[in-house]
Amino acid sequence: MIEVLPIFTNSPLRNLTYLIYSNRTGESYSVDPYNAPLLLGHIKKMGLKLKGILNTHEHGDHTEGNLELKEETKCLVYGHKKAKDIIPGLDETLEEGDICFSVEGETIMALDTPGHTFCHLSFVHQNPKTILGIFSGDTLFNVGVGNCFRGGDPNVLYDTIETKYAKLPDSCLVYPGHDYWENNLAFSHHVDPNHPFRDEFETTRKPFQISTIGLEKKVSPFFRRDSESVKNRLTELGNLFKNDRDVFLSLRKLRDNW
Ligand SMILES: [Fe+2]
Repeated sequence: MIEVLPIFTNSPLRNLTYLIYSNRTGESYSVDPYNAPLLLGHIKKMGLKLKGILNTHEHGDHTEGNLELKEETKCLVYGHKKAKDIIPGLDETLEEGDICFSVEGETIMALDTPGHTFCHLSFVHQNPKTILGIFSGDTLFNVGVGNCFRGGDPNVLYDTIETKYAKLPDSCLVYPGHDYWENNLAFSHHVDPNHPFRDEFETTRKPFQISTIGLEKKVSPFFRRDSESVKNRLTELGNLFKNDRDVFLSLRKLRDNW
């Protein structure tokens, strides 16, 4: 089995990083390392060997720990093929479908998920039957999606959400790159005022907990684009939209200025 340890870094950006590992082989991988000493402490305490770093994308808050971890453990750094010269210490590039880690039938596989940037990968944790979880970097957050003003494009992000994320099973666990629950829930109140489920959800989510795609589809305005609550509110706020893509783009723009 592949296990996942979420690590909250307490940084101003509320970074979340993950250690994925096998108790059987002792091998581990770090997703988007931020605080290298903190990660090294976990790795040592758990008796693991760090084989590699999986970077979802090139932004510094997702690659901050790369060089120190590489120096200390001699691990390899993996990232998107378009991030060749921009991810610190990058050793191997990945394309959609590449398997990064494999234990007893479970794998970690790269998905190409552009939008937040054009070098963005997500990593799915799967077994032969289903997708168990997704490391979403800055593509999907709890109750939200990533911004696109540091090298991305909201139109492309819409395509990624529609063609990749919306197709994941409801039970799929969501491991985002930041804990933005609180702000995103506040934004949800603003753009989705008549949400039937949010208040109940809000009291049960504390302290931080890992969500699922099914829950995100229920609570996130970026998945509730077809609801009357979201569409009426967007109209009230002066947004014009002809189709589903327009609704997504209006929401993303409003969130940019939130
Ligand atoms: Fe980012």
